[in-house]
Amino acid sequence: MGKLDGRTVVITGAARGQGAAEVAAVAAEGAYVVATDVLDDEGAALERPGSVVYRHLDVTSEKEWAELAEWLRDTGRPVHGLVNNAGIPMRPRLGSVGLADWNRALAVNLTGPMLGMQAVEPLMPSGGSIVNVGSIAALTAHQAVAYTSSKWGLRGLTRVAALEYGRRGIRVNIIHPGPIDTPLMTGASPVFVAASVAQTTLGRSGRPEEVAPLVTFLLSDEAAYITGAEIAVDGGHTAHGGTKPIVDAIDAS
Ligand code: NAI
Repeated sequence: MGKLDGRTVVITGAARGQGAAEVAAVAAEGAYVVATDVLDDEGAALERPGSVVYRHLDVTSEKEWAELAEWLRDTGRPVHGLVNNAGIPMRPRLGSVGLADWNRALAVNLTGPMLGMQAVEPLMPSGGSIVNVGSIAALTAHQAVAYTSSKWGLRGLTRVAALEYGRRGIRVNIIHPGPIDTPLMTGASPVFVAASVAQTTLGRSGRPEEVAPLVTFLLSDEAAYITGAEIAVDGGHTAHGGTKPIVDAIDAS
């Protein structure tokens, strides 16, 4: 018996990185996974008959969300889970970020999950679960201003959705990954990655497979009384509140 037997779960940004690991973990727990992304070749490669189907979905497009909802309705499957995982980095700092980059980060990382919830929540029965993927940048003054602002906004959206949907028995939570080895981090500067990893109390970056079990847990009935919660999966990056460099300095003295 899997934790998610008989469930249908939609995952955005599923083609690679954490999304692909979530597809594998959620399917392994028995769910039928609707994997979505804009990277159609990588996404299609995830398909497994009867277990994983791929659909093109740009999360910024209200039209594409409506088309996905119509397709889901036509399949006759109630949708038990939605994982708003798609996200883009946007690294310019406050002094230099352009309006187009600012708007793009908000469109993908914040507006995308809002459109997703509007489209999918009506298809969810009581017991449904939505997992939003935030970031440790949503808990701190991360220097990438547009990314940080979009993820802080996602925290607020998550809490509002938990409040709105609770009466229907639908739970909404947000997870905050720390530095995870995915293509998103490969594109970051080595200086940033090393400094970020140094802030983890475990002293290493995480793997997508270390995030996915938290997602399957939150989707499952094991988390039936957890909603509006924020859970870091960050190797201790945020837990020390900035004191790790102090401890490191004392240890080195
Ligand atoms: P990734 O870059 O490997 O995967 C992101 C996926 O989102 C890609 O498949 C991409 O095609 C898709 N995507 C981008 N724009 C899209 C759009 N408009 N519509 C649909 N799909 C779109 O990155 P990763 O690390 O797997 O990221 C997953 C989530 O985790 C993101 O929300 C990211 O912000 C978050 N995160 C990642 C961290 C890391 O260190 N890798 C740290 C904290 C949060």
